[in-house]
Amino acid sequence: MNTTLKTAGSSDRADDRDVSELESVSQSQVGGLGTWYLQNMWYFAVASSELKKGKMLPKTMLGEPILLGRDSNGKAFAMRDICPHQAVPLSKGCFDGKEVMCCFHGWKFDTSGTCTSIPSLTKEQDFPLCKIKTPNYPVREVRGAVWVYFGDQSDDLPDVPEAPGLGELLYEQTTTTLLLPTHIDYAALALIDPAHVPYVHNSWWWRSAKALKPKQKHYVPEGTGWTMVKHQPTKHSIFFKLFGQHIETEISFRLPGCRREYIQFAGKTILSGISTLTPVDETHTELNHTTYWMFPGTKFFMDPIIQYFVNEFLGQDQTIAKLQEGNLKLKPKLIPTIKDAGTPGAWYLRLKKEWAESRREGRPFNNPVPDSILHWMS
Ligand code: FES
Ligand SMILES: [Fe+2]
Repeated sequence: MNTTLKTAGSSDRADDRDVSELESVSQSQVGGLGTWYLQNMWYFAVASSELKKGKMLPKTMLGEPILLGRDSNGKAFAMRDICPHQAVPLSKGCFDGKEVMCCFHGWKFDTSGTCTSIPSLTKEQDFPLCKIKTPNYPVREVRGAVWVYFGDQSDDLPDVPEAPGLGELLYEQTTTTLLLPTHIDYAALALIDPAHVPYVHNSWWWRSAKALKPKQKHYVPEGTGWTMVKHQPTKHSIFFKLFGQHIETEISFRLPGCRREYIQFAGKTILSGISTLTPVDETHTELNHTTYWMFPGTKFFMDPIIQYFVNEFLGQDQTIAKLQEGNLKLKPKLIPTIKDAGTPGAWYLRLKKEWAESRREGRPFNNPVPDSILHWMS
């Protein structure tokens, strides 16, 4: 598979086609908003620390029952959690660090999903066990997170959209997990939507909606998404209040639903975070936010503090998703792309469509995001 990334021609304005294109996308049966998941992508599965040696962890991802595990050598793996014999979940059996044994008839499978033993066979009954397989999934572990790949398997898989700005330095980390009762598309639109911030994220320690201010941000196409060029956070943000003018931040988005941000003080990354969206099924999405911070050895007291703030912040998004839940089931016609605050949402849908088409056609991905200056009030 060719995963070469290309950038579309540049302009300094958001593309005028945003609204009409989204409307056509959302009306289409094939590419409709809230109707399909992107394939040939890495999805965040679980924090590495949650996947212990010799253990199995069942999880539903993209509507598939997945058995995650870590063998006795520490290598993570993922296979379909359905026994190919009579469909019992393999995760209900046991795992000795090398093989998973199904609890129904005791068939065994290695960590690649290949059958290694059928206990009911006699010595004389020769059977090609290796022909029995439950599908496995490529797994990568990057910066303390386990990612699972869904799609066509080849030697040329795309990059994992890991947390940015960390380099080789050692950082502490913690992951916060929330379940959103919406399709990944709605979760992604909310993740990259600047207009909701002053209304939804109005904690005492963050900001309020009292004074909307004009914002202007420069976006460039990059990878499978875009990057908002490095800038100083706004003066009423908590980071500016804490660290003053020596602080800079860079925010980026990558398919399939990863919002990434790092904060630098005097040119050195002090905080980095990645919010990842993983579809559970058509109407539920898992949101995982992994925070990385410098100062190794501070996990003991920093972990609960960070968990508190991230849970409060993302819990506000979860509250909105719950409010949307019932109404989205009615499939109302929506207008989520009022420029310019809604332009990243239109880009998300265009990126998703282009990724799917380029994979299907076996051609390089042509990033459709224009180099843009976006303006909005928030
Ligand atoms: S169902 Fe798994 S061994 Fe029979
Ligand atoms: Fe939000």
